[in-house]
Amino acid sequence: MNVLLIGSGAREHALAWKLAQSPKLGKLFAAPGNPGIARHARIVDIDPADHRGTVDFCLKNSVELIVIGPEAPLVDGLADNLRTMGFCVFGPNRIPAQLEGSKGFTKDLCARHNIPTARYVRVSDLAAAEAALGDFGLPVVIKADGLAAGKGVIIAETAEEAQWALDMMFEGGFGGAGAEVVIEQFLTGEEASFFAITDGTTVLPFGSAQDHKRVGDGDTGPNTGGMGAYSPASILTPELEARVMDEIIRPTIRAMAEDGTPYSGVLYAGLMLTAEGPGLIEYNARFGDPECQVLMMRLESDLLEIMYAIARGRLGEIATPRFSNETALTIVMAANGYPGTPEKGGRIAGIDSAEATGATVFQAGTSGLGDELVACGGRVLSVTAKGKDVRDARQAAYAAVEAIDFPTGFFRHDIGWREVERLGAS
Ligand code: AMP
Ligand code: GLY
Repeated sequence: MNVLLIGSGAREHALAWKLAQSPKLGKLFAAPGNPGIARHARIVDIDPADHRGTVDFCLKNSVELIVIGPEAPLVDGLADNLRTMGFCVFGPNRIPAQLEGSKGFTKDLCARHNIPTARYVRVSDLAAAEAALGDFGLPVVIKADGLAAGKGVIIAETAEEAQWALDMMFEGGFGGAGAEVVIEQFLTGEEASFFAITDGTTVLPFGSAQDHKRVGDGDTGPNTGGMGAYSPASILTPELEARVMDEIIRPTIRAMAEDGTPYSGVLYAGLMLTAEGPGLIEYNARFGDPECQVLMMRLESDLLEIMYAIARGRLGEIATPRFSNETALTIVMAANGYPGTPEKGGRIAGIDSAEATGATVFQAGTSGLGDELVACGGRVLSVTAKGKDVRDARQAAYAAVEAIDFPTGFFRHDIGWREVERLGAS
């Protein structure tokens, strides 16, 4: 079967790496891709924002399945247009992708179906926002409704900060994404990521992970797309996972189906494990990056078979996906300046030596310059390893990082610290 993979991050490199292991794979094409993805796929010059061009490419090249990695093309309705033309697609249509594309959409759905989440209000002008603020105390969470590349959430510790956040959003600080705002109650607890796959009817758990969103060691500094992750996250015990499936995931998938807009693909729940139980912080309509890298490292089943079954509405007909009991851990190497303006053009060497240690290096913001590899984005590499527990996986991943020569890059030194502490305490 020929497959087209959309995206250019380390998440998509991990998907390409795993798809390439399937005996059912014919040709794998990727757009826009990156030099790491090019090790497993033919990079093709199509623009995923050009839906007609993408459809034409798939027709000409006998592509049967299109895998959409990032959120923007999903929210933009690429899956709808491909499905209309008869293609199998992994990833939800435009309306179900609103679970990620509009925070207000998700909060309203939670309210209608009693899904545990922070108390909230949706507002579309400054006066209404200021009037509502008093109901929430401090800190208060202020979110741009739409997609804002992971930057649209502000946790205001003081009334002044809350005022600043509201002014900024309504003045267009996040463009159209902030035309509407969600104000919500601040939840306390530990965060974890949980993944479920669904074809709209059958729903299966697909693993847990923990991300490290802050740029600096000890969870300090500004938020990023994620500086490292590990899987599984033992804090999500089997009992808690069952609650998440029953109280959060299944009611959501059922509601989307009842509304005539079934959700198909992977649903990524960002959770807060509060004293009262798990609460939904946000949904994403795709795999997480870097969480995908650690999930793919642990997945033992055939990813292509799973994605194809989901795309055809036949998830119930295949064997339940199997994951290794080992822990996988990934360390993101980013270019100096990230998450602000990353330094471009820095040389990267030593990927082969890093992989010789047994690790796998997934590429994100890299580009080829003659025989050399150089940085061209914020997050550049995702160095991933497995071990019998988090301590082992962490040691293996850091050993591989040491083999990489990337003088204009940096990484966190404490990926997995929560899990290592838990292991120490057990
Ligand atoms: P999001 O983009 O929705 O994942 O939010 C980014 C981060 O803001 C989350 O990972 C949490 O750390 C934090 N956050 C979002 N909503 C809340 C909330 N209601 N209470 C506490 N922290 C939150
Ligand atoms: N790692 C967080 C995300 O992919 O949204």
